[in-house]
Amino acid sequence: MNTKSEKNIIVELQDSKEAPMDLLELADPSIDQVNKYLKHGRCFVLKLDLDIIVGAMVLQENSPDKIEIKNIAVSEQHQGQGFGKLMLNFALDFATKSGYQKLTIATGNSSIGQLALYQKVGFEIVDVVKDYFIRNYSEPIFENGITCKHQIVLEKDILA
Ligand code: ACO
Repeated sequence: MNTKSEKNIIVELQDSKEAPMDLLELADPSIDQVNKYLKHGRCFVLKLDLDIIVGAMVLQENSPDKIEIKNIAVSEQHQGQGFGKLMLNFALDFATKSGYQKLTIATGNSSIGQLALYQKVGFEIVDVVKDYFIRNYSEPIFENGITCKHQIVLEKDILA
């Protein structure tokens, strides 16, 4: 499945070995976690001017009616230009066309900008997994002057 916006295009990679790890690591500092969901999920890249990869996203089915955005990232020099929103809307469109009822995304309690963005596009907080990042990540994570401890899970209903 591809989508085009002027000269920008989102394409699915056929081989996860081609995944842009530098981008995926921006969103998730654990290579082990990234490799785990790359194995089971589907990796999409956003190409600028049909060529340069500036964004990446991994989608993984959690159950027959739920799909999750496990990773979403835009290269640092291209952030804040609407590419994140473009990929979130692509994921929503993909989930809708694939017949899922819910689209999930999760992030840390310290990811203030991401929490703002996800809620702006219609995701709602449905769960908080206490100490998720303490238990699952070997190195401490700090953002916005806050320790990342808890996982905030957000969902968006897909309207038929
Ligand atoms: N308060 C309020 N709104 C904010 C804040 C904030 N602190 N920070 C960002 N935003 C809003 C902006 O205002 C903008 O909304 P607007 O268009 O209504 O003004 C929106 O967030 C940003 O939108 P985009 O430009 O589309 O986002 P961008 O292209 O920068 O992509 C992304 C967002 C993917 C989070 C990018 O910044 C990134 O790659 N960050 C590093 C990796 C990362 O943290 N990934 C997500 C981890 S969670 C996961 O992967 C499941």
